[in-house]
Amino acid sequence: MASKVMCTLTWDDPSLSEYVTTSAWGLLRQMSPAGPITNVLTPLWHLPLPLNPWKRAEQKRHDEQQGWWLKRYRETRHRNSHGEQRWCWTKQFLDKMADKSCFAGGDEEASSVLGMMALVGVFTVAGPLSYWLVAMVHHPRWQLAVQEEVDSECGGRLPMLEDAPRLPVLRACIKETMRWRPNVPTGVAHESETDDNYKGFFIEKGTRLLPLDWAFLRNPVKYPYPEEFRPERWLEPGWPTFQEPLSQFPTIKGMSSFGWGQRQCLGMAVTQDELLVACGALAWCFNLKEKVDPATNQRIPVPTDKSNSLLIIKPDPFQMSFEPRSTGHREEVLKVWEEAEAADRKARVEFLETATRGRSGTDADRKEPCSAVPERLMKECGEKVGSWAKIKQARWAKVCRQ
Ligand code: HEM
Repeated sequence: MASKVMCTLTWDDPSLSEYVTTSAWGLLRQMSPAGPITNVLTPLWHLPLPLNPWKRAEQKRHDEQQGWWLKRYRETRHRNSHGEQRWCWTKQFLDKMADKSCFAGGDEEASSVLGMMALVGVFTVAGPLSYWLVAMVHHPRWQLAVQEEVDSECGGRLPMLEDAPRLPVLRACIKETMRWRPNVPTGVAHESETDDNYKGFFIEKGTRLLPLDWAFLRNPVKYPYPEEFRPERWLEPGWPTFQEPLSQFPTIKGMSSFGWGQRQCLGMAVTQDELLVACGALAWCFNLKEKVDPATNQRIPVPTDKSNSLLIIKPDPFQMSFEPRSTGHREEVLKVWEEAEAADRKARVEFLETATRGRSGTDADRKEPCSAVPERLMKECGEKVGSWAKIKQARWAKVCRQ
């Protein structure tokens, strides 16, 4: 899910998500202490290339990823120059750069900045999303509280972003998940640019600082019962972290997990929005429970302490049961899904039709077809898009023969 959101935001193409997910985990492994041995025994990295399989592997991974980003960037630019690109970050970047020469980097740098934005939104959001499921399985009382809140505040439908001010219990469970199981537990390292003093400690210029988020979020003064999942710490007066108004707080924005200062995470709002609709929808639709093994009739435990050991963590794969709360919930969620997919396809086709009408007669200078309808959607979509695609293909075949 996180990958589809990021691919839509970056290139307006959710069908790219599979590649981006694999590529994101490849990068994360490479930059984690638990990745290649050169990340721990750093002198090995400086061995000459023929004796250095780690550097060769990284060069291959890097070049392949960079090449893929460049391709996406140039394709998007191509579509944009023909008015066939809908809004996305790459289009916004291209449009802003068209009249200002404030970006000194070339295509490689531009594509890398945009590609990296897509990537970082994948492995980061996946952590709290998965841990939220773990938390709900282990704390049915809170799961029920979220379901009751969503039912009463959203009038029986799936929660939407506009509902956020009326869903403090859902927001508290999300925030407590991120506190209970921080997914960048060792934080992101910074380096001191000048000599500094902090509370009597001298910090020399060039010192590497590791903000240990796991420890910050277990400070017993700020978070009593730090090992326990206690969403009430955000909801009830008397807890050190309680803050009003509840229409605004709790919010995950500004949490230490996102870092500080001018390099603070740029994705806090995206993360908050994604988690609110995803966790809210899961609670609205399903009872989230341990799975029962059909062979033994025994419950399969959902571990709370098993994760990968990368820089950004998520739980190891686990089994659980997603039981629809009722047949009505099941049918409604499938209907909403189909309607949303159909609306997306229709919007893409209408956009393309308008764009093509707007520039009839200029096609001849085109070298290759471009489309706002991703290939996968083209294949899946209905008659209208199918026939439109055939017309388009035939037209391009003609152009290419000329
Ligand atoms: C659970 C979700 C996330 C967590 C915990 C997280 C955490 C972080 C952390 C710790 C940093 C480093 C901050 C520092 O240097 O002090 C960071 C930077 C960054 N994050 Fe996130 N992030 C999350 C989601 C996202 C998403 C969804 C996006 C993209 C939309 C994103 C984009 C970025 C960018 C671009 C930076 C670099 C900012 C800079 O160096 O100027 N993050 N994030």
